Amino acid sequence: MEIVILPGPDEVARVAAQRVADVVRRRRDAVIGLATGSSPLGLYAELARRVAEGELDLSGVSGFALDEYVGIPPEHPESYASVIRRTVTEPLGLAPGRVHVPDGRAPDLHAAADAYERAIGAAGGIDVQVLGIGANGHIGFNEPTSSFASRTRVTTLAPRTRADNARFFGTPDEVPVHCLTQGLATILEARRLLLVAQGVVKAVAVAAAVEGPLTSMCPASVLQLHPRATVLVDEAAAGRLRLADYYRYMHAHRPAGPAP
Ligand code: F6R
Repeated sequence: MEIVILPGPDEVARVAAQRVADVVRRRRDAVIGLATGSSPLGLYAELARRVAEGELDLSGVSGFALDEYVGIPPEHPESYASVIRRTVTEPLGLAPGRVHVPDGRAPDLHAAADAYERAIGAAGGIDVQVLGIGANGHIGFNEPTSSFASRTRVTTLAPRTRADNARFFGTPDEVPVHCLTQGLATILEARRLLLVAQGVVKAVAVAAAVEGPLTSMCPASVLQLHPRATVLVDEAAAGRLRLADYYRYMHAHRPAGPAP
């Protein structure tokens, strides 16, 4: 795992955007896995800036969201369909028909989950999966005890996640209880993983994911199994890493050439 400690959220956004841009330069029709939430907003804003300034063309790119709430309509401002349209598809100039979000209103959610897996496969798999991390160590909405073998499925949001996401809704009770999420095995199949975390609120989860045991109690620890996983953290999110100086050393002395 590559761990990069950066001074602040702006540098996390810039380095993350560079990594995504590198993937798209190698493959114009790259498939990007899209996280929602606050963590990747700086990355998306930085990509949007590069697109607006003509440095980057993302018009050939496809996207697959990590997850979606169950039970709220896609036009709800906090549905991930809306969030992805607002923060990714429009500002980055992606072709709307190539941006996919699980269907949280499908009459048969299990069939919708299976269809989503098939759609990712039909697109050739995900080239780079952008991830945030929950304060409880979740990635996507794979909450603690999610199987490392899990695929896209309907599941239940942890109380902590509902409380954390209440800031996007009027009241905590309005946060849906269920969701569709890519599974941990689905995420592991992406060719690259790029996890971004900022702020002290993520420090315990980041340390558990990077330095803790491989355990479904910290779903993000599954990154330890991936051959090309990069974790970009700011100083605050790195605050509980015991081996921070080691990561700084390793990054400063990384082999020449493109990032892993
Ligand atoms: C969102 C997602 C979640 C978030 C995580 C962190 O699509 O999959 O895993 O990345 O809950 O959320 P923020 O970034 O809002 O702190």
